[in-house]
Amino acid sequence: MKIDGVPSRTIWLESDGQTVGILDQTRLPHEIVRVTLRTVDDAARAIKSMQVRGAPLIGVAAAYGVALAMQADASDAALRRAVAYLAEQRPTAINLRWALDDLAQRLGPLAEGERRDAAFARAGEIAEEDVESCRRIGVNGLEIIRAASAKKKPGEPVNILTHCNAGWLACVDWGTATSPIYHAHDAGIPVHVWVDETRPRSQGAALTAFELLHHGVPHSLIVDNAGGHFMQRGDVDLVIVGTDRVTAHGDVANKIGTYLKALAAYDNGVPFYVALPYSTIDWSIKNGVDIPIEERGSEEVLSVYGRNSAGEVQAVSISAEGTPARNPAFDVTPSRLVSGLITERGVCASSHDGLLSLYPEKRSAAE
Ligand code: MRU
Repeated sequence: MKIDGVPSRTIWLESDGQTVGILDQTRLPHEIVRVTLRTVDDAARAIKSMQVRGAPLIGVAAAYGVALAMQADASDAALRRAVAYLAEQRPTAINLRWALDDLAQRLGPLAEGERRDAAFARAGEIAEEDVESCRRIGVNGLEIIRAASAKKKPGEPVNILTHCNAGWLACVDWGTATSPIYHAHDAGIPVHVWVDETRPRSQGAALTAFELLHHGVPHSLIVDNAGGHFMQRGDVDLVIVGTDRVTAHGDVANKIGTYLKALAAYDNGVPFYVALPYSTIDWSIKNGVDIPIEERGSEEVLSVYGRNSAGEVQAVSISAEGTPARNPAFDVTPSRLVSGLITERGVCASSHDGLLSLYPEKRSAAE
């Protein structure tokens, strides 16, 4: 997708073939800063500090992190250390674990001298696979938006609500939840997106609104509490969100606040879709209650980031000093509240049978 008209990605191998570039998402939307990762520590820090964030993107960043580790030391011990170290940076998004398991399985049997190049090659492949998966999610989700548009008066937009950032900034390109929206917009279907602010880190305000603006998609930023109101008024036709982990039975972990939107959508008869690539499915877990939920620092709740009138970006405190806070970063939406899963293979029910209809080869893993 584009920034200021220039095709951009969130992560790439630099032309030196030994360092990795990222778009620093902690600086968006106020500054566009690109950062170079040289070591596994750089990659781990980027994941932990959310310079890169979003389930698919942290999987790709972790894969490149292993490659950077192998560049410094390709021993068995270094491989084990890098995988364990990167895995502990963020617990909820399964894509991180998925990418690390993939790298560990492929590199383990290789000779030390082969590991560095194989790791960079596989990280690049995972990035390209993510782009293609997200493109396919867009093509499949487009049909849902097209059907919603057919029920509208000519020229009337399909109103789609989304939560957090599940756009191209959470992936390598296209996005998950936003890919159907970009495909619909590019196909000339009128769309309008309600962008949830998504406190405490404001990924909706800072990232989703930024990327929709740069692609020219009509949208309105709303506070997190406004979605139910707009649904009651008939101003939301569809909800499409991303996810950090889907269980084998279709429960969905996503950014905190998603569950409340699903409840409001259910109460108002608004279809609630979840968009994801296969790397986000955790076939080893049936129930959402077993998904580990990241608990982040209270400072994210107690302050907000923004740009002041002097143009400086700063955090400001929003409550009395000493106020205690809790900060679960994700919640789980039970499968019964999900109208469907939009994947690179098609759209299915959010259930064990639904998932197996698209991924029959996983039948034994999911039993
Ligand atoms: O904590 P973050 O910003 O890494 O959050 C992850 C997400 O971007 C969302 O939960 C998203 O909707 C799923 S990832 C496409």
